[in-house]
Amino acid sequence: MSETTTAAPQKQAWHVGRSEDIPEHGRMVVDAGDKTVGVFRVGGDLVAYENRCAHMGGPICQGLIVPRVYEQFDDAGRPVGNAFDESDMHIACPWHGYEYSLKTGRHAGKKSIGLRPVTVEETDEGEVYVHI
Ligand code: FES
Repeated sequence: MSETTTAAPQKQAWHVGRSEDIPEHGRMVVDAGDKTVGVFRVGGDLVAYENRCAHMGGPICQGLIVPRVYEQFDDAGRPVGNAFDESDMHIACPWHGYEYSLKTGRHAGKKSIGLRPVTVEETDEGEVYVHI
């Protein structure tokens, strides 16, 4: 019996920009190798995703960034209108409108659908890198 090991492919760091280039709810979309990646700041942290919508590959990272919309109800359970949740920012695909949580990358209505996350690093010196 022989033992087989498979080495994980080496990732390469790609410089994105400076920390101040990506303010809260801001973004940068950059080419990194053969991929295009969107980097976003949400709740002070950086998240990054490949710029390919899970629906049909649209440029999701270039979509509109909006707060989550939720329905409000009165004490009797009757709907009284919609409101925005500024603590849960979403991004909407410019092609057909699929909407994802920026923080998790998951589809707003169907959690089994999601964006492909990319490792992002912010150094103490204020430089931002993605690792592909
Ligand atoms: S490709 Fe994004 S919603 Fe269709």
